[in-house]
Amino acid sequence: MSTTIETILARRSIREYTESPVSNDEINTILDCGKWAPSGLNNQPWKFIVVRNENTIKELADCTHYSKIVLQAKVLIAVYLDQGTMYHHDKDVLAIGASIQNMLLACEDLGLGAVWLGEILKKNEQVNAVLEVPESLELMAVLAIGHPVGKERSSTRKAIEEITFNEKYGEKWTGEN
Ligand SMILES: Cc1cc2nc3c(=O)[nH]c(=O)nc-3n(C[C@H](O)[C@H](O)[C@H](O)COP(=O)(O)O)c2cc1C
Repeated sequence: MSTTIETILARRSIREYTESPVSNDEINTILDCGKWAPSGLNNQPWKFIVVRNENTIKELADCTHYSKIVLQAKVLIAVYLDQGTMYHHDKDVLAIGASIQNMLLACEDLGLGAVWLGEILKKNEQVNAVLEVPESLELMAVLAIGHPVGKERSSTRKAIEEITFNEKYGEKWTGEN
């Protein structure tokens, strides 16, 4: 197993999957990592819907521009904010983001590939209808998960100096001791 730092740095969004199934044990580990994210007041404002039924996956593929990714996925996890347990919208949304990142990192550690789909929120009402969720749930994201098609993937990030200041805004962080 990799260290947490190795897993964070190795994770890439994976958008192509093989035909291999994702096991219940793997899904349970992913969900466990999702639910162990921190949340304000420990209110755990998330609800997850695990989707593996091929017809439902097809219906959800119709809700997004990224239908190709959705159709290839072996499992989808729809992530919802439960307004019933919410105490502060922004803080709860952040907690959901932490939960999603935990799940993406769990996928990486399990050798699975995953991507966070946000564009699908444009059709949130259609997604909610397919998944028969009550109005009290607000769609935050759908995670597409499967075994990755093996290929090199790269990504870029801004330099730390570009996004970080030293003591006060405007003072460059140089990273020197
Ligand atoms: C809020 C959010 C929404 C995203 N929505 C999509 C999406 O709809 N489709 C997609 O292919 N990737 C989506 N992504 C993945 C990003 O494109 C990806 O994380 C980014 O390009 C950096 O690449 P990396 O994850 O491989 O490092 C989303 C990521 C986040 C955090």
